Formats: sequence, C-alpha cells, structure tokens
Amino acid sequence: MARLSVILAGLLWLRQAHAVVVPSSPPSGAATVDPSLVSISMEFFAFPGYTQLSGTNNCLNNLASLRGAQPAIRIGGTTQCVFSPYGKVPRYSCSLSHRDRATYDANLQSPVNYTVATPADAPLSLTYGPSFFTLASQLQGQVTVGLNRQLNNEANSLAAGSRAKQSMGNLFAIELGNEPDLYASSSPIASGTGWSESIDISNEAKWLTALAPTLGNIFQGAVYLSWNTQQLVSSIGSAALNTIKTISRHSYPQSACGGASTNLPNLMNHAGIVSYVNQYKAEATAAHNAGKKFFLGETNSATCGGGGISPTFGAALWIIDYVLQSALIGVDRLYFHHGTISNCAYCWWGQNAVFSPYYGAVFVSEFLGTDGAKVAALSDTDTGMAIYAVYSAAGTPLRLLVLNTNYFDGTGTRSSTTVSFTGIATASGTKQAKRLTAPSATSLADQGAAVTIGGGGRFGTNCARTGTEGTEAVAVSNNAFSVAVKASEALIVNL
Ligand SMILES: *[C@@H]1O[C@H](CO)[C@@H](O)[C@H](O)[C@H]1NC(C)=O
Repeated sequence: MARLSVILAGLLWLRQAHAVVVPSSPPSGAATVDPSLVSISMEFFAFPGYTQLSGTNNCLNNLASLRGAQPAIRIGGTTQCVFSPYGKVPRYSCSLSHRDRATYDANLQSPVNYTVATPADAPLSLTYGPSFFTLASQLQGQVTVGLNRQLNNEANSLAAGSRAKQSMGNLFAIELGNEPDLYASSSPIASGTGWSESIDISNEAKWLTALAPTLGNIFQGAVYLSWNTQQLVSSIGSAALNTIKTISRHSYPQSACGGASTNLPNLMNHAGIVSYVNQYKAEATAAHNAGKKFFLGETNSATCGGGGISPTFGAALWIIDYVLQSALIGVDRLYFHHGTISNCAYCWWGQNAVFSPYYGAVFVSEFLGTDGAKVAALSDTDTGMAIYAVYSAAGTPLRLLVLNTNYFDGTGTRSSTTVSFTGIATASGTKQAKRLTAPSATSLADQGAAVTIGGGGRFGTNCARTGTEGTEAVAVSNNAFSVAVKASEALIVNL
C-alpha cells in the first residue's frame, strides 16, 4: 500500500515522456559554432583589476580547455563611456556627465587613473596610459578594445588606437564609442547637429574612414544597445563598411533599472529565450550578407544590479539556452559583461569568488567541446524543455544536451521530465551522461550552495576545478535510450 501511494504520487509529478529522433547528420537549421562563441566583456576601468585576480586566468583557461580555443575578450562598456557601479545605468539617466569619460594619456605611468568614493563605485572620469595596452596584450584570446567617441576628440582616440595596434599582437577589433544610441544632443560629438541614429551613422562613417588609414580595417561597428544595426549596415556606405570587421549589438533581456522588476522563471524559460533571441535574427543575417560577423558584443542577464536573479543557478541555465539559441539564429559570439569587481551581480567570477552563472558557461562549453562544429535544436513541443545535438566537422552527432527550464524554487516536489531518444547509431550498450544540478534555481554557488557538475565537480574561489566529476550510465537498446532531467537541471549525454 505504501509503495502504491508512492507510485501514484510519482505519476502526478512525472512529466510525460518525450520522444526525440537524433538525426544522423546535421539537420537543416543547424548552425556553425565559432570557437569563441562564449566570450567575455570587461568593463574598461575594471580591466586592469581583473588581470590581478587569479580567478581570471583560471576561469578563462577552464573554458579554453573545454573548447580548444580561448574566449575572446572585449574591453569596453560603461566607463569607455558610462557610469554605473552595477554594470549599466538606467537609460533615462544617461546624462552627458555620465558618458564617454575615458581619455588616453600617453604620459600616464599606470594603466588607469581615477578616483572613486568607495571601492564599489565606478569612476566618473578616468585616464589611461600605454601600459593599459601592455596588460591587454598579455591576454591569450582575441581582444577588442573600445575607444571614446562621445567626447569628440578624434586625435585622442587615434593616439590610443595607434598605441593599441603597436602594443597588442592579439588586437582583434576596435570600437569607436559605446552605445551611441544613448548619447545626448548635448554630447560634444553632437554639438550643433543634435543626435539621432542617422546622425550617428554619418558620424561613425566619418570617424571610421578617418582612422582606418592608420589603424586598418579593424573596426567593430554599431555597438548599439537599443538601435537595430541593420540600418547602419545598409546605409553607412561602402567606404565605411569596408573598414568594419564585425557588427556588435548589446543585449540584456531584463533590467532592474529604476525599480523595474526582474523575473527568474521568465529569464530561464525556454520559449521565452527562443522568442527573445529571435529579435536579432534579421540583424545577424544583414551583417552576414555584408560579409561581417555578428556579435552580441556586450550581454548579460539583467542591468542595474541584476534584480536578485543574475547570480543564481537559474541564470546559469539561462546562459546555456541563450548561447545555443543565439548561435542558431546567427550570432557568432556572445561577450558576457563583467563590471566592477565584487560588485557585479551577473559576473562569473570576482575577488575570491566564483558565481553560479559560470557553471552554465562551463557546461555549455563542455557540450560544444573541442570537436563541436555545428549545433542543432532537436524538435520538441514542450516549451519548458530545450534539447540540442552537437555535430563534428564530419557531421557525426557527438553529444546531446537536455535542459529542463521549468522553474524549481526549492519548495514542494521537484518535477522530472523523461526524454526518449531514438535513431542512435549504437544498437545496444551504455552511454555516459553528465549532470549539472543545484538544490534550486535560486542557488548561489558563492554562498556555498551545492551547484555541481557530474555529481561533485565545483570551482574553488580562485576558479580552479575542485571535487570529482563523474558520469551516469545510460542503457541503450534498440538504438534508443531515455534520460530523466528534473526541473531546473541540465544533462549532457555523450553519444
Ligand atoms: C590621477 O587622477 C587624479 C584625479 O582623479 C588627479 O588628481 C591626479 O593628478 C592623476 N594622476 C596622474 C598621474 O595623472
């Protein structure tokens, strides 16, 4: 009797099994994966500080060894331009005094110079010197550097760009301005003309064609937060377009600015992610048609302090689905933003701390692997379940990923969904699976919650791997197998 009631209770929460056929070669809609698909953006003023953290090297190297390529690094953002202790300012308060404050000083001995009231703040103005670029030259991945345009000091940005080019063998691209959609008509760059998207496009064209003869055709164009980048690609003109290497659009699905409320179940929901990411598809296509890579050149979960959702395990699951859906619609790279060290809700690591979202970055990197060339979404009708396959360059399915984005807050019974895969090349035997889990979607790894990979794999405060990762055996018969994944959990199956 006791057993029967357990079974009945189980039937109530055990979700219907899903049947998914694994295509033996990449299906239509499969996307090519850039080796640095998962990349990092670092706040301009904070970058020298990041180079002092042991976590930085370890966190980057963990990702690099999983993918066989270093994450790319973009150095820029709000203190290339804008003030915010938490990463981004509310859009409505982006006054002139809060924008584009970095000025190059060829005689400055230190990488950056600024004063702040408290260490948690970002500076209201700063200068930076040649050694800023020496530090940047020591990064192992491709590096993009953001220079100031809003102050309308073309000679200063040219001097900085020249120094960057001279110092940095790893220089990949240069941005001219950050989020110019937020410049004010009182900005120096706008003096006498007002400010609008079309004015920005002409201004960007003027700067690009003026600086390219010295710096090369090395620019990352647009760098917009709210403007669609298609207009720039189609109307900037061929002379300027030739100087542009990549197109950047900034993306934050949620905001806690100005008291706006955030929502973790919505952030991590699969159907919500598909719908959100789809807004960038036409921009990616337009960039590709012009021969340019399309990047989410600065992105993360929620602006203005993260609203309590950004450091959670749910945000780790969001990263996995967001990265893969972005790849599917043509985003070549996502640069996840890192702001003020240890005062940054969505950061992956800080001073002696690794945060839950990093586990998502690691898990999706492990799924893509050193050998993953193409990723595909496998059809499923459940809006809470995300199911992917990654294929080798030769077109062989390598691994499956099952992500259950249903929200589990740690109370009540945790539901579980069983997915049955058919069409597996192996007739019978055993496959190995690795699970990413935590007590709940709200778990905080830096506060000691058991966010784990493969049962016991974790990251120490310096981002070195700790614990032991194991795999679970999955029985294959008749070229098929089933796996169960609980709400707010993910599983990789090695084929
Ligand atoms: C550094 O900045 C402060 C203002 O924040 C200024 O007083 C000081 O002279 C600067 N130092 C250098 C070496 O430029």
